[in-house]
Amino acid sequence: MDTKIEAIGAGKQKASKILRVGFIGMGGIANHHANLYKKLGGVEMVCGCDIRPEANEHFKNVHGIQHTYTDFKKMLKEFKDVDAIDVCTPNGVHAPAAIAAAEAGKHVFCEKPMAMNAKEAQAMADAAKRNKVQFVMGFQHRFEPRSFAIREQVESGKFGKILYVRAQALRRRGIPNWGVFGRKELQGGGPMIDIGVHILDTAYSIIGRPRPITATANTFTYFGNKKSKVKSQWPNWDYKTYTVEDMAVGMIRFDTGTMLTIESSFVAHLEQDVFNIQIFGEKGGAIWSTSDMYFDMGTYMMNAKPAFLGNWNMWEYKMTHAIEVFRDGRKNECPAEDGVNVQKMLDAVYASAQAGREVTIA
Ligand SMILES: NC(=O)c1ccc[n+]([C@@H]2O[C@H](COP(=O)([O-])OP(=O)(O)OC[C@H]3O[C@@H](n4cnc5c(N)ncnc54)[C@H](O)[C@@H]3O)[C@@H](O)[C@H]2O)c1
Repeated sequence: MDTKIEAIGAGKQKASKILRVGFIGMGGIANHHANLYKKLGGVEMVCGCDIRPEANEHFKNVHGIQHTYTDFKKMLKEFKDVDAIDVCTPNGVHAPAAIAAAEAGKHVFCEKPMAMNAKEAQAMADAAKRNKVQFVMGFQHRFEPRSFAIREQVESGKFGKILYVRAQALRRRGIPNWGVFGRKELQGGGPMIDIGVHILDTAYSIIGRPRPITATANTFTYFGNKKSKVKSQWPNWDYKTYTVEDMAVGMIRFDTGTMLTIESSFVAHLEQDVFNIQIFGEKGGAIWSTSDMYFDMGTYMMNAKPAFLGNWNMWEYKMTHAIEVFRDGRKNECPAEDGVNVQKMLDAVYASAQAGREVTIA
């Protein structure tokens, strides 16, 4: 991974030329991206598509996008003057939108998870390759300062062989009450594919992207499909259409021998939310949330912590990185291949839960 981050930061974009970006899907996350494009500069938001006319109106009025459509195929056919498409739809539309954009010769920036499953994800990666366009996956936690700090120690061998990784994305009560996050047919799954994917990608990128070979897992639905009177941050989710898991736990084996457990939930009965990774190596270990690291030095067990981690913002890094990959040919630090591999692990977690046994990952 490229650790040169000097160029990252608001207002630091020295645009050699302007990148023309179009959106497919203009809801919550697209708004966030649009605000960041404006803040970072070097980008013109030229077109956008949403099936909701009110989203198109909003993007016209708030973000100045003049050319809006309700059908992305029509947009890609009619509006040619765009360099990259930012895919921000629900998961089920990522593959058709990204493939259509690649076929139209546009670079693709795709929000997480890459797709509903690995088959779709692979088709997206293939479409980008076939059409010689760049594909950047929209994971951001791999770009946090603490991710770089721990990744560097792993890469330099300070922890020795990585034995075990514990990745957790657990909310005490956090079923999204917007969008379609509870609908398996539109999202592919629940907390595992929605928030587990973030911590899984981060852990996977930190330990050097080894090849996953098997998974054993289970999923549980016990809460989200019922009405609840318990007060919580996001009440009144649509329990009637809720068909995803509330919790998924899995164990993944890599070809390096490393074991990784992943725990993910919208509804875990625990004191407070956990979003964390612990790494256990032969010679050292780390806790991602605090960036504490543990080694033996001489005759002592030592606790280490970076005195200065860097102070960039992961979202600005993520967006700047994508802009520079598309516009300036910067090395892609979050390629389609990583999205496919993460998706294979997600698929295996769901497949193992369904089968009730360990499954192999092709
Ligand atoms: N990186 C992150 O941390 C992060 C955070 C939130 C969401 N996301 C991802 O972003 C995606 C969207 O999430 P969101 O929270 O913005 O959801 P959202 O429901 O707010 O927005 C999705 C938008 O897509 C539109 N849409 C649906 N089908 C479409 C189609 N066929 N063509 C065009 N537009 C279509 C919807 O009308 C809606 O406006 C999801 O894949 C989600 O996982 C990522």
